[in-house]
Amino acid sequence: MTDWLPTLKTTTPEEGYNLAVKLARVAVKLTQPDAEVRDRLRPEYAENSGTLIAVSQVVATHFATVAAANDYWQG
Ligand code: HEM
Repeated sequence: MTDWLPTLKTTTPEEGYNLAVKLARVAVKLTQPDAEVRDRLRPEYAENSGTLIAVSQVVATHFATVAAANDYWQG
């Protein structure tokens, strides 16, 4: 996974949000490299409102970082 994050700069907020989701997913992948285990756990979190809210919160934290890195797309 070399050079998977060359920049935090994005053209639009929507692209920035997609990057935030990617940051969250990469953390999961690095933490649990076994795809079979991730596949097994996926249905569990996909149908649990609490874990889905947790996912949303992690993405929100990353999005705050990405938005700041892009000057909130003002510049
Ligand atoms: C699928 C986000 C945590 C395993 C997805 C998808 C998204 C997503 C957006 C749908 C992808 C698509 O259908 O195109 C996230 C975020 C996470 C997170 C933001 C954490 C903050 C986890 C965890 C696991 C996991 C903890 C398992 C340990 C998977 C798997 C899929 C999936 C196996 C299905 C991939 C596929 O069907 O291609 N995730 N996820 N994710 N996620 Fe997560």
